[in-house]
Order: sequence, then structure tokens, then C-alpha cells
Amino acid sequence: MEIKIFLQSDPEYLLSLILRYKILRIPLGLTFSKADLERDTNDIHMGAFEGDTILGSLILTDSGDQSVQMRQVAVDDIYQGKGIGRKLALYSEAYAKEKGFKLMFCHARSVAAPFYQRLGYRKVGDEFVEVGIPHYHMEKTL
Ligand SMILES: CC(C)(COP(=O)(O)OP(=O)(O)OC[C@H]1O[C@@H](n2cnc3c(N)ncnc32)[C@H](O)[C@@H]1OP(=O)(O)O)[C@@H](O)C(=O)NCCC(=O)NCCS
Repeated sequence: MEIKIFLQSDPEYLLSLILRYKILRIPLGLTFSKADLERDTNDIHMGAFEGDTILGSLILTDSGDQSVQMRQVAVDDIYQGKGIGRKLALYSEAYAKEKGFKLMFCHARSVAAPFYQRLGYRKVGDEFVEVGIPHYHMEKTL
């Protein structure tokens, strides 16, 4: 498995979009809006690949004030539970730290909160609803 950083104009982006659609959108009956895609433009895109196959991906968004948001974390369902999400997240943390960010945060789906807790993220505040499902704001000092 190889972790790659890619741009929105790279072919890997299209693979990540298909993965995000399958894993994060279809189960909620959602699609991508133009605004969703525009939001990706200035972000850092990362994916775990085996050859040309994308196994997982995530996005980092600079939130200013030396904090960065990890979002759109998705591992293809047949590859889940094999440590790929952890490797991607840890890679992104090391990358963000290298770039001078001090804090990583995410809006974790409540069902996925244990995944982030395993990685050292803590819940901040109460559960809230986003895209129609419960979430927690979670963060980790880099
Ligand atoms: C959540 C997700 C990104 C985790 O990636 P993954 O590759 O399956 O997770 P890993 O195999 O790296 O798991 C790392 C650890 O987290 C735990 N974990 C992972 N997903 C979990 C979950 N949903 N609930 C409880 N624990 C979980 C694993 O058991 C493992 O624990 P360990 O420290 O004992 O080994 C992935 O399962 C996924 O894409 N799920 C569907 C979409 C989703 O919920 N995305 C997150 C949106 S916030």
C-alpha cells in the first residue's frame, strides 16, 4: 500500500470522489453539490493505493489559526478494519505537523468516533447533527 498526495486536477481525485460517493454519500441518500466540489479546490487530498486501486482517502482543510480539519475520511468497505484508516490518518497528522499545524480536528460521525478515539482524538462539546446524522467535534494536538 502506498499513500499519495494529489491535486483536484489529478486522476486520483476522480477515484477518491467515486470512493467518497460510495462510502459517505450513497448510504445517506446524498450526492455532491457544485459547492461541495468547489470546497475541495484548495484542500490537501490524500489516498491509500494498491497499484491503481484506491483503498481509502481523506482531505485536509486549512482552518486558519494553525488548525486543520480532517474530513471526508473513507475506506472502501472491503478494506475496512485492516488498519488503512489508521495509516492514512497518522500520515495526514505527520504531514500537517510538518507544515506547522498545531491542531487537527474533525466532525466525526458518532458511529466512527471510536476510530478517532483510538487515534488519540477527544470529543469536544455535545453531539450535533450534520448531513442528517449525529456527529462529534473531535480534536487532537499535533
Ligand atoms: C471509519 C473508517 C474511516 C475507519 O477506517 P478503517 O481502515 O476501517 O479503520 P482501521 O482498521 O484503521 O481501525 C483502526 C482502529 O479503529 C477501530 N475502528 C475503526 N472503525 C471503527 C468503528 N466504526 N467503530 C469502532 N471502532 C472502529 C478499529 O477496530 C481499530 O482499532 P484497534 O486500535 O483496536 O486496532 C472506515 O471504517 C470507514 O470508511 N467507515 C465508513 C465511513 C465513515 O464512517 N467515515 C468516517 C466519517 S467521520
